[in-house]
Amino acid sequence: MYSSLAVFILIVTSSICKGQNVFPKDPYIEVGSSINIVCQNSVQGKIYWTLNSERINESWSNTNSSHSVLSLPNFTHSSATLQCHSANTQVLGGTIIRTYTKPSNISCILTSPIGESWFICTWEHQTDSSLNINYTVMCNSCSNLTEICNSQETTCKIKYVNISAEIGYVGNFNISVRAKHAAWEAFSEPQIFKLIKIVKINPPELTITTVSDHLLLEWKVKKKDRCQVKYSTAGSESTPEVPKNLAKVEKQWITKIENVESCSNYTVAVRCALGLAPWSDWSREQTVLTKLNQRDVKLHLWRNVAEADKNQVRKVHAMWTEIPSTCQETLTYTIKQTPYKQNMTGVDHMETSCDNSICDVNQDAHRINLKVFLNESLFVNDSVYVPAIGESLPRVTDIQTSTFEGAILVSWKAPQQPVSGYMIDYTHNGNQYSWKETKYTNATLFDLLDKKPYNITVTPLFEGKTGHGTQALQICSRVGDPGDFTNVNVQAKHKSAFVSWGVKSQEACRGAVVNYIVFYSTQDGPQLNVTVDNTTQHISLKDLNPNTQYRVYVKAVGHTGTTKSSERLFETKRFDPALITALSVCGSILIVLVLSVGLCCAIQWKRFQEKPVPNPGNSSVGSWRPMAHGQVNSGIWRFQPLSYPQENIFNVVDPEEVQRTSTSPLTPGCHDNPASDQTEEYTDPVLVTAPDIQSEDAVEHEETQHPESTELLSSEGSPSSPYRSQSSVETAARTSEPCKCVSLKQPDKTPPVTIYVTLDMFG
Ligand SMILES: *[C@@H]1O[C@H](CO)[C@@H](O)[C@H](O)[C@H]1NC(C)=O
Ligand SMILES: *[C@@H]1O[C@H](CO)[C@@H](O)[C@H](O)[C@H]1NC(C)=O
Ligand SMILES: *[C@@H]1O[C@H](CO)[C@@H](O)[C@H](O)[C@H]1NC(C)=O
Ligand SMILES: *[C@@H]1O[C@H](CO)[C@@H](O)[C@H](O)[C@H]1NC(C)=O
Ligand SMILES: *[C@@H]1O[C@H](CO)[C@@H](O)[C@H](O)[C@H]1NC(C)=O
Repeated sequence: MYSSLAVFILIVTSSICKGQNVFPKDPYIEVGSSINIVCQNSVQGKIYWTLNSERINESWSNTNSSHSVLSLPNFTHSSATLQCHSANTQVLGGTIIRTYTKPSNISCILTSPIGESWFICTWEHQTDSSLNINYTVMCNSCSNLTEICNSQETTCKIKYVNISAEIGYVGNFNISVRAKHAAWEAFSEPQIFKLIKIVKINPPELTITTVSDHLLLEWKVKKKDRCQVKYSTAGSESTPEVPKNLAKVEKQWITKIENVESCSNYTVAVRCALGLAPWSDWSREQTVLTKLNQRDVKLHLWRNVAEADKNQVRKVHAMWTEIPSTCQETLTYTIKQTPYKQNMTGVDHMETSCDNSICDVNQDAHRINLKVFLNESLFVNDSVYVPAIGESLPRVTDIQTSTFEGAILVSWKAPQQPVSGYMIDYTHNGNQYSWKETKYTNATLFDLLDKKPYNITVTPLFEGKTGHGTQALQICSRVGDPGDFTNVNVQAKHKSAFVSWGVKSQEACRGAVVNYIVFYSTQDGPQLNVTVDNTTQHISLKDLNPNTQYRVYVKAVGHTGTTKSSERLFETKRFDPALITALSVCGSILIVLVLSVGLCCAIQWKRFQEKPVPNPGNSSVGSWRPMAHGQVNSGIWRFQPLSYPQENIFNVVDPEEVQRTSTSPLTPGCHDNPASDQTEEYTDPVLVTAPDIQSEDAVEHEETQHPESTELLSSEGSPSSPYRSQSSVETAARTSEPCKCVSLKQPDKTPPVTIYVTLDMFG
């Protein structure tokens, strides 16, 4: 007894723990249906229910000592958790209720029996798409075939031949769809079809022809079919409709799309249905470009009449609206002028061609005629009146112009006579004109080029004629910033820089420059500025740091704004160029001085060194003989350079030295470079590398001495005294032949010549 009680308690406890005392367990119900849930109440006391944690009113449940029954009518939650609680809020058990829906809205079609024909049904089913559901199309009226086709989507198709025996073409048949899930099964409401009403034919094949002002559509007629057309242009689409003018011509449907826009792309499609059967798909969309329609051509012919020149000839500038470029038609325009006669109508004689759009018109009244030809036949024409000079016609007065945000506002006073309207034409360059018509005595001109001067003319219109034009004062569409810099030039010096700039000369519609400000700064220094007036376009920047990079730009300041030039970088010089010049002059003077002093010293030194100290032992006392009797071996050493017949000590050449060099090609006559020949030989004497100017003399001297030297060698073959050599120098100077040679060769001998001066005082 006790043991069985224990087992019972155990079972109850375990069933409470597992929540097994609420039934039915996790049911699926059809949405909107009712359900009763039972909670087994093993514990004494009150019981209550919660749905998704919200307590349910106790009136919904019916409780006795052992059970609590909850009735939920019209359950629509797709999924809800229901729990049964004891009074002390202990959960006694729970269940999850899920709902499913029935498939609905079945529609079935039979595709066109041409070729392969399919029986296709589609339906709706609201369900979690993750659920695996098997659908079956059931034929409830068929005797042998209950399941027509299976699928896992909400559409199902089957070849018509497989079911044609069961489904009659004329009679009704009853279809429903079954949705089967592992936990539930739902059936749609049955639906009745008649095959003849579900045949969907193939889309028609459409041909489109573009005619001047409409599109012609044609496609094949099917038995008992009805059709719809839709078309679209850029930005708009028509609703599908049965065209009013749809007509059967033989075996074709024919219709027109009228009032099409010229030169536009139209996309057209057609669909048809058999009787009350569903529409076919739309035919392949075809796009066609419509033709240019005469009705859409608005030439807006107008003209601007310039002042007459001295021959009373006026230039008339004709203007008209061109046909849009999207049109593929090739049109030719002709502009002609014809004298205007009051009662001459439609007579074209005396027409004169104009040059492009410019007609030269005399003082009489004229008409300007514009004709447009398409394929050599007249397509459209227009004409405009040019009044005679001085003709009594209305004219506007008191034209006022102003600008506002890039547009020009024009207003004027109406003439006394009644007029139908006004034409305003305006140009910024005399070639491109714009024009617009108004009924009022004012107009706003938009779409102007920025900062351009416009000439505006207002002409009254009446009775197909025009009055005289009145021109407004030229006005800029906008006044721009002042000055337009061409370039900024900088000439940098040591501590200053000269900055100059150019501005484009007198551009119309530029604001006037009030002054220029030159801004300059070092790389990291503060920005400095100098202001100059508008007549000056250069400035010298002072007090700059030497050897420093500066940046500079110029700003033009006007009443309408400022314009900044491009920025220039420049670097001041390291040294003052004047200082460098002074320094280099001083330097060269110094060098010359040093050289001359050095040379003098060297000469003196050499002289001093080579003067033998007289041996008093060898001296004898004698009387001083006069110079004229020869100085040979006088024994008394005297410094007597002044006694040399030659003025220049450089000219003294030691004959002995000359003799020593006799192995060198020292022959009388011409030598290519006697100086260089001797360079290697002379080592002892003071060496002076003389500049070119000196070398000529020196070479001459060298040269002049050679003939003499050889003469000496050949005649005596013994060292001679300087006194003799001296005398022979004079001889040599008289020998003219080698000199000539030397002078001939001289121009070739450009390199510096080394002069060897033998400071040999007394042998
Ligand atoms: C309590 O109600 C349930 C269900 O309605 C029923 O099966 C059971 O017999 C009832 N018990 C008593 C004691 O009335
Ligand atoms: C659905 O059909 C497939 C095969 O067609 C089958 O394997 C599966 O068990 C079916 N599922 C249900 C819920 O009937
Ligand atoms: C504008 O009008 C002025 C004054 O009549 C004339 O000098 C100038 O050439 C005209 N400019 C153009 C572009 O027609
Ligand atoms: C012309 O002027 C009137 C009043 O001055 C103004 O209301 C109107 O907008 C103006 N029209 C144009 C085209 O500027
Ligand atoms: C020019 O420099 C002065 C001081 O040197 C300064 O006060 C002034 O604002 C500067 N002008 C401009 C336009 O920067």
